[in-house]
Amino acid sequence: MSYFLGVDIGTSGTKTILIDERGRILSEASAKYKLFHPKPLWSEQNPDDWWKATVKTIREVVAVAGKPASSIRAIGLSGQMHGSVFLDKDDKVIRPALLWNDQRTTQECEEIESRAGGRRALIRMVANPALTGFTAPKILWLRNNEPRNYARLKKVLLPKDDVRRRLTGEYATEVSDASGMLLLDVKKRNWSAKLLAKLELDSSLLGKVYESEDVTGTLTKKAAKTLGLTTDCVVVGGAGDCAANAVGTGVVRSGVLSTSIGTSGVMFVHSDDVQVDPEGRLHTFCHAVRGKWHMMGVNLCAGGSLQWFAENLCAELGDNVYDVLNREAARANPGAEGLYFLPYLAGERTPHADPDARGCFVGLTLAHQRAQIARSIMEGVTYSMRDSLEIIRSMNVPVKQVRVSGGGSKSKLWRQLQADVFGTKAVTINAEQGPAYGVALLAAVGAGAYKNIQQACSATIRETSATAVNRKTKRIYDTRFPVYQNLYQSLKKDFKTISDIEG
Ligand code: XUL
Repeated sequence: MSYFLGVDIGTSGTKTILIDERGRILSEASAKYKLFHPKPLWSEQNPDDWWKATVKTIREVVAVAGKPASSIRAIGLSGQMHGSVFLDKDDKVIRPALLWNDQRTTQECEEIESRAGGRRALIRMVANPALTGFTAPKILWLRNNEPRNYARLKKVLLPKDDVRRRLTGEYATEVSDASGMLLLDVKKRNWSAKLLAKLELDSSLLGKVYESEDVTGTLTKKAAKTLGLTTDCVVVGGAGDCAANAVGTGVVRSGVLSTSIGTSGVMFVHSDDVQVDPEGRLHTFCHAVRGKWHMMGVNLCAGGSLQWFAENLCAELGDNVYDVLNREAARANPGAEGLYFLPYLAGERTPHADPDARGCFVGLTLAHQRAQIARSIMEGVTYSMRDSLEIIRSMNVPVKQVRVSGGGSKSKLWRQLQADVFGTKAVTINAEQGPAYGVALLAAVGAGAYKNIQQACSATIRETSATAVNRKTKRIYDTRFPVYQNLYQSLKKDFKTISDIEG
């Protein structure tokens, strides 16, 4: 028997699983690390923490499963997208990595659009507009703001690709995560020489681009020793966490949409061709399926909103906080007695692309208690995801089934809310470790256990439950969704003023 590792380097921690050739999970482990916000719109992590968590969790899953090192044949890497690991000539990390939800690069986004010859020209080159969370603006930020650090810069890697470097000694990436750097010609699935030239960035800064199921290297002697594995173990491309989650939930053909409620909220659809939202609200990226693409909308603070509420305002509930909040919210009425929550605690990406947007409760009265507040947060996050769904529907992309995943979807209430707010049944599948499972399957494909990722998914992934739409509740949400949408428009100018005053 051969075994395959899937490692997901997330924002709150790293999750690692070990699967067998039939896709059964033998063991899983996770390790948490810190997130730093040195200034209001900044969000950073230390790449050494990702490596330590990777080593710890790989050692743990292999030990628990009790399988010989030589039978662990391949590793797949998934990770939070867009983060910038800046390395010098000796592979030293120059400064903490800027993450996907860091919002400091508004000026650099403007610079990119102007150097590219305008927003449309940029979209023609890399299929997407410049958004503050993407990687290219982070490189320009370093150049504009920390010239000494920029002078030392030799490589920029994405979070999971820095872990790959430490595993294999290779500077490499794969198409799905590379798409989110804003430097990839998404149609051609390779770096855009044209945009690199306009930005005056050297292509030597970037790793080699592979397809997700391709082998990118084998473990170095040092890494094999650290992990207790062998140098025959290969590392495949893997995928950014959104595409990895889509693979792990079987979204590898058209007609199926996956939703994920983790720190961020993601609405993800497979696409056989490159389809671009002319207004640039949805991202168009390469899929982790060879020769296919995907579109997605990303909300920056989905599960993160409930986590903020739980940690900052419900500390007295202790370890059971999420159970209590779910129970109370389930007892509150749909619509939370007129209370609306805008989940823009970290600014927003889809559909507003507005770093100045802020979280709000609108409609508070003396009658509102914790139950309604918790429910309004879950409803507001789900409305924010419906914003993306509406754009997907308006582009005539077929959505025959919605598969829900991520920590938030473990909540029965949040599954029902998704069914009722989206107006489609919410299907769950057998694999709960979406991104880690997706890349473990890609590893299995890379090692030859399956012909391709579609075959791996159909052999291993099946539906386990379906939450039907409650027609009455759906009507309640259909009436309230336009109010939710309007609130951003009403507050937009004030968000900007608040941001200007606070500096
Ligand atoms: C995707 C994105 C987030 C992160 C979170 O574009 O920014 O989903 O990948 O891990």
